[in-house]
Amino acid sequence: MSTSNRVPLCQLHELIDGHSRGFDPRGIGRDTVFVVRRGEALHAYRDACPHQGGTPMAWRKDAYLNGDGTRIVCHAHGAQFDIGSGVCVLGPCLGQALEPIKIEVAGNGTVFLMPDNKETPQ
Ligand code: FES
Repeated sequence: MSTSNRVPLCQLHELIDGHSRGFDPRGIGRDTVFVVRRGEALHAYRDACPHQGGTPMAWRKDAYLNGDGTRIVCHAHGAQFDIGSGVCVLGPCLGQALEPIKIEVAGNGTVFLMPDNKETPQ
């Protein structure tokens, strides 16, 4: 696969286990992608709630999780999502899901947003 338009997001060690972080790969002035780290697993989604037309989900920078870090939360109306699958398990969009984003960790620890994502700059 071509790696020409993959976008570096950060280094793996900058993602804290049990926390989330937002990114602005298109440089539009707000985060449109977020990543949750659980151990060695990274889960990346578009910052767009399925409840209401892609509403941004964090109430402040990088705040995509509930208090104990067990679920992703949309702070607009409180929908909760399973971190691993992105499926809404509680709230107004029950059964709908976040849009997964393809990322990859290179050998040097750089986390890349892969091509063919809507969030990859063209
Ligand atoms: S817009 Fe996310 S729960 Fe309503």
